[in-house]
Amino acid sequence: MNERVRADFPILKHIIYMDSAATSLTPEPVVEAVAGYYRDYNANVGRGVYRLSQVASQKYKDAHEKVAGFIGAKEAGEVIFTKNTTEAINMVAYGLKWASGDEVVTTLLEHHSNFLPWFKLREKGVNLKIVNPNRSGEFKIADFEAAIGDSTRLVAITHVSNVLGTISPIKELSAICKEKGALLLVDGAQSAPHIPLDVEKLGCDFLAFSGHKMLGPTGTGVLWVKDPDGLEPTFFGGGMIEKVSVDGYELAAGYERFEAGTPNIAGGIGLGRAVDYLNDVGMDKLQAYEERLAKRLLEGLLNIEAVQVYGSTNPSGRIGVVSFNIGGSNPHDVALMLDEASGITVRSGHHCCMPLMNYLHVEGTVRVSLYLYNTEEEVDKFLKSVESIARVV
Ligand SMILES: Cc1ncc(COP(=O)(O)O)c(C=O)c1O
Repeated sequence: MNERVRADFPILKHIIYMDSAATSLTPEPVVEAVAGYYRDYNANVGRGVYRLSQVASQKYKDAHEKVAGFIGAKEAGEVIFTKNTTEAINMVAYGLKWASGDEVVTTLLEHHSNFLPWFKLREKGVNLKIVNPNRSGEFKIADFEAAIGDSTRLVAITHVSNVLGTISPIKELSAICKEKGALLLVDGAQSAPHIPLDVEKLGCDFLAFSGHKMLGPTGTGVLWVKDPDGLEPTFFGGGMIEKVSVDGYELAAGYERFEAGTPNIAGGIGLGRAVDYLNDVGMDKLQAYEERLAKRLLEGLLNIEAVQVYGSTNPSGRIGVVSFNIGGSNPHDVALMLDEASGITVRSGHHCCMPLMNYLHVEGTVRVSLYLYNTEEEVDKFLKSVESIARVV
């Protein structure tokens, strides 16, 4: 698959891109889909009766349907376009009706996006419980069984850690949530781009993810809601109503209810094209390919003296995201050296996971994250570069 795929990312002629967990590169067909909207049928959606507006509206609607198909939600729930995972999670935090004494259960692995909205709810008397993984980033189901109780309204957990690459036991968690009557929100920011997803099989009530991490344009994200009637819209205004009078309003049905104002039309259409692209590659094939790369990366890093890898050293049950440090060196220095010496882009720092960094007793890490356009040769170049840096720091 690789040569054909790489040709769609001309930027790869100049760099080795290993920061896809932050944002992925954008293939030419997606760039073309965004440009196509502006060039050929630029009009607002859900408003005009003229033909151009009808075309834009249909394509924007089609993009929602493509995303629904991508996550196995063709028949169930509602796919709402947001600007990112963060907005999607906030829409759940603001859209559920909370009572004082309600409880949210989350974990120490979470990105700040899946912490701060729940911290904010403390102002409404909502309690927050945090389940810790072990030092490899793995959970004991018994810890969730103990944490989830009668007051638990919602369990909010990341599907895949953006620091350690480990996959959380969502299906098992879903069974506990069902038994205890709690809702389950899955942060799929790092799973939707890399793992075939099916909301029915996951058994969640909300799935949040970012289009820009899965080949889509920046400013795109998704909230899938199993029961849209159980969620209040967060934003109010044009485009989301059926009727308005001076006495009140009636909300529109479908995703429009949650997408007030003019949406990111070009972005949404671009996201639909990204989904087509991933489907053409095949998510099963993509996952198997990335697993091979991740194994090579992990084993290589573990063989370099002075490198400390954080999280599980087991190459299975994870995606191609690996965090490490070299001796006592500053992760930002290592990232700069990788860029300057070899044109390799990696993220360094706390990765928006400060509570996890504290738990691991580090200020930050270097994080490599791979995607379908990376190659074994690139992984080998990266390992060689890390080896040379480890010799001099
Ligand atoms: C696990 C996880 N959740 C949430 C987010 C937030 O995504 P966004 O910045 O697109 O809102 C990220 C981003 O890195 C992430 O990795």
